[in-house]
Parts: sequence; C-alpha cells; structure tokens
Amino acid sequence: MIQTVRQASALRGTVSLPADKSIAHRSAILSALGNGTSTIHNFPDSADPQSTLDCIRTLGIAAERNKQGVLEVDGRGLDGLHPPDAPLDCGNSGTTMRLLSGVMAGQKFGSVLTGDESLQQRPMERIADPLKAMGARIELVDGHAPIRIRPTREDLNGIEYRLPVASAQVKSCVLLAGLYAAGETIVIEPTPSRDHTERMLGLQVDEVGGVRELTVEQGHTIPATTWTVPGDFSAAAFFLVAGTVVPNSELTMEGVGLNPSRNALLEVLDDMGGDVTVENERVEGAEPVGDVTVRSARLQGTEVAGRLIPNLIDEIPVIAVAAACAEGTTEIRDAQELRVKETDRLHAMAENLNALGAEVKERDDGLIIEGNGPNLLGTTVGSFDDHRVAMAMGVAGLVAHGTTTINDAECADVSFPGFWTELEDVAVVEE
Ligand code: S3P
Repeated sequence: MIQTVRQASALRGTVSLPADKSIAHRSAILSALGNGTSTIHNFPDSADPQSTLDCIRTLGIAAERNKQGVLEVDGRGLDGLHPPDAPLDCGNSGTTMRLLSGVMAGQKFGSVLTGDESLQQRPMERIADPLKAMGARIELVDGHAPIRIRPTREDLNGIEYRLPVASAQVKSCVLLAGLYAAGETIVIEPTPSRDHTERMLGLQVDEVGGVRELTVEQGHTIPATTWTVPGDFSAAAFFLVAGTVVPNSELTMEGVGLNPSRNALLEVLDDMGGDVTVENERVEGAEPVGDVTVRSARLQGTEVAGRLIPNLIDEIPVIAVAAACAEGTTEIRDAQELRVKETDRLHAMAENLNALGAEVKERDDGLIIEGNGPNLLGTTVGSFDDHRVAMAMGVAGLVAHGTTTINDAECADVSFPGFWTELEDVAVVEE
C-alpha cells in the first residue's frame, strides 16, 4: 500500500489508540499458563499480538472473543500446553518469539518457532545462550530463527543471569523459563528495561544502586484473572510528536499507558520545550494510565543517551523526526539496539529524513540531527517494512512542504491498525 501525507496547517481532535502491544502479548501468554479462564479487555487487533494468540492456539489453548469483544483465554496451568502440530509462526513479532521460546524451553515436548523474513534475520543467541545455561536444548540457524527446541529431559536449572544487553524480551524469556526451572531463577538488570512481565507475574524485585534483581521460583502460580490492556504509549508517541511539531495543534488521547519504564519520551519532549499535559492519572490492573494532551511547541535540540534509551527504545524513530523539526543539534547515542529491530532503524531514519532534506548523520550507536524543519520537502520514501519507520515518516510528512509518499505503508498494522485514518482525521490541510 502506498500512503500519501500532505503538509498540515494544524492537527485537532481526539486520537483513538490501539491497546498496548507489549502488555497484550504478556496477558495472552500468562493467561494461557494460568489456572482457569482469564478475560482480557481491550486486546488489540494489531498483527503482532494476534501472532501470539495464534501461537497459543496452536499450543491447544482456546482463546476467543465473547459477544462483548472481551477475549477469553482458557488457561490450563504451567503444564497444560499441547504439543504443537505445526511450527509456531511468530510473524513479524520479536516479542512473541523471544517470550514463547522461554516457555517452550521448559516443555516436555519439542517445538519450532519461526517468523517472517525480517524476524528470521534478528539475533536469537541472546535468548539461546541463557536458555542453554538453564539446560534447554535449542538449535538456531546461524544465530537466527527458525528456533528448534527439543523436549527437556528433566527440569531446567535455575540460574542467576546478568543481562548483557538491556532487553525486556530477553529478561522476560529467562523469567518465563524460570517458571520451569529448579529452585530460583534470578535475572540481574544493570540498565532497567520495561517491567511489564515482573509486574504482571507479581515477582519479587530488589533494586540496589539502580541495578534491578528479579526473582522467579519454579512453579510460581499464575491465577486466572481479568486483564485490561491500556492504550499503547508507543502508539501515542507518533501523535505526541505530530501534535508538537505541526503548528496550531491540540490533540488528546485517553487511557494512555504511562508506565515509567516506557514513557521517557515525555522527559525528552519536556527537555526540548514540548507542551504535553497528563490528567486523570489512575492505575488500571498492574499499570498506570492517564489522559494526555499535546499542543504545538517550538523545540530545541537535545541529547538522548544512556539509561533513558531502553525507556524510549521504540520511540527513537519519531524522536528523530522531532529533532529534524527542532532548532539546533540533537544527538542520539547508546542506541545500537535499533540496528537489530524490525529493520536497522538508525539507517532507515537517516536515509528517509535526508531524502526529505533533513541533515542526519549516522553513527554506530545513534544519530546526529541538525534541525531543519522549515525546509523539509515532501518526496517518496520507503517503510523498510517496519511499522515504526512508516509511522514516523507519516509524522514527518505532516511537516514537510507538499506531499510525502510512503511506500509499503501497510506495515503500520503490526502495531497500529487504523493509524493512517487517525492521521487523516486529525489533520487540517489547506486546499
Ligand atoms: C519489547 C521490548 C523491546 C521493544 C519491543 C517490545 C517487549 O525489545 O523494542 O518493541 O515487549 O518486551 P527489546 O527487548 O529487544 O529491547
């Protein structure tokens, strides 16, 4: 699908957001492993969480929406999954593959996890290494999926694992395997990443000097429960930046997840001179939520680096757009993980923003961006088949003069079906 976006003179209105992808994956997996039927309110239709649902169904778990649209998942306990009669197809979803590998490593039956072309190029040693240390029998193909997991002969061993890379997916994989491992499994996290898994499992978390230590015990029970998935902060991010950089704008989003391990974009926008207000803060289930309003503001360049990075890892493509519209220089460092996402996002954003006339230099671990907002000029760019690159370029297209064309834009559906309609609905375009 080819999407065109015209320069907007204002953005106005209320944006409806998809439910949080990260929390949705976890709610489906934990419900499948829970004892009895769990209900999940606001489970999203986006492709990635649907991949997780398809996989748990292949593992013999009934998961259907009831008449009210609420998802009901018939959990069968930690040992209730059935041997799959086909490979588990994780689609484009790294979270599905890495989290489910942790679960599969503990099963008495074998499995194969595979995915699309992009997912088959993403690094999987990062999960195979700790799982092997726990005694799992795993084979990769040159470090990549398809992942073949053989049945465990006996229980996995509990380990103490210090994460070599700040990754919530790796952390969650080891914690889920820990449900099947003798004694305790301890994950040490020197640079904290999103904490949904430990919140939702109700795990013991110790923190000393900024280093987090998470402990899970073998057989940790997961009761059947009711989950409510909040609005996805990472989806809101595109409209937070859009509402900031397009003049005369005011946008509101309700029920946005505001987990502090996810929302460092708010800190960055504040630092750049942005105008975002949060109201009606509340807690829904295990997660903080609020209503967010953004108004246009003139931004200054900034530095984005260090411990902030894992807390805005998915927002960096759209932060690059904000930086391209700001005055002065923005430096993004310590973000080498972006090179192994659905595409190499540092390269994709540098190439695309430069095509619009921005001044972006690539570094190994980041970007240096000279603000050049008033001079951006619409042209044709590619999505690199990456949902966040496509949507970030949609935001850039609202600012660039004329029309910006985004090829292969349908990949937005991976996390935000309806994104292009929401963007059109709030944009005021001069004829
Ligand atoms: C996610 C963790 C992050 C993030 C991804 C979702 C999760 O990946 O980029 O979109 O739900 O755990 P990494 O763990 O690879 O940093």
